[in-house]
Amino acid sequence: MDKIAEIKTVCLQEMQNCESLSALQDLKVKYLGKTGELTGLLKSIRELPAEERPTFGAKVNELRNLLEEAFTEKTKQLKALEMQRKLQQEVVDISLTSVPTWGALHPVTLVENKISQLLTSMGFEVLAGPEIETDYYNFQALNIPADHPARDMQDTFYITDSILLRTQTSPMQARLMEQKKPPIKMICPGKVFRSDSDASHSPVFHQIEGLVVDENITLCDLKGTLEYLAANLFGKDTQVRFRPSYFPFTEPSVEVDLTCSNCGGKGCSLCKGTGWIEVLGAGMVNPVVLENCGIDSNKYTGYAFGLGVERIAMIKYGIPDIRLFYENDQRFLKQFVK
Ligand code: DAH
Repeated sequence: MDKIAEIKTVCLQEMQNCESLSALQDLKVKYLGKTGELTGLLKSIRELPAEERPTFGAKVNELRNLLEEAFTEKTKQLKALEMQRKLQQEVVDISLTSVPTWGALHPVTLVENKISQLLTSMGFEVLAGPEIETDYYNFQALNIPADHPARDMQDTFYITDSILLRTQTSPMQARLMEQKKPPIKMICPGKVFRSDSDASHSPVFHQIEGLVVDENITLCDLKGTLEYLAANLFGKDTQVRFRPSYFPFTEPSVEVDLTCSNCGGKGCSLCKGTGWIEVLGAGMVNPVVLENCGIDSNKYTGYAFGLGVERIAMIKYGIPDIRLFYENDQRFLKQFVK
């Protein structure tokens, strides 16, 4: 009987000190398991005189019931405690400032948007043309017949003999002038494709085409437009210079230089000491092209220009290699997050 009382006290004490469900389970096995203390007690019944056995047996069973109830109760407590602990540990602190990496516009998109925005503010409408183009619109309508040496300037990806990936956004000039008569004032931003790849050439890059056709349009209108564009892209002191050039679809044609945004025109490594940076090709729309598209070249004149978006972005941001735009290296792209 002393032993029963002792087991009761010790077991309840140990249970009280139990801090985890697994420790409690071990304790239960220790006392109530097949080879546990209580089973041992029951076995010892054989050593008692026959008349004491029923009382002893009843006492042991009473203790078993009491302990089982106590274990159930303690299990409940520990489960509740464990849940509380978990809730505290796994709590989400919604007051913490979040640190996601936000998506942002690509530098080519930023520059394209900026140029489009400046030109639309001057009344240009924005059009998109097909990237898969016919030889006719990409070349012939623009006064570049099949054997014309100018075709060599633009290494072309052909799909068939007469279908190709456009090498320039200029075909949109012809497409529009066939559809719409002057006044015309449009830009066409988009991807163009050439079989060419090095630090300053990419097989896919972006251009923005500009076209204005109306009565009395002159090179001065072109210059004024480009001066406004240059001032807003590179700063108000930026000067625009025309150099004579040749494109089959413009006559006369010009290469357009800006004072170097890096040195302000004094001469540096970016402008190779000249103080000027070439940014785009332009000219007065060749009357042959106007006539090809059914526009009276005696009544109307026009100017056109075509610029490379990557080129402008490279100058603006001081990017030395065009391939950086397409590698999707976060360390590069992050620098343009506003
Ligand atoms: N399409 C020419 C190129 O990709 C650029 C160009 C030059 C466009 C003169 C024009 C222009 O509209 O008038 O090299």
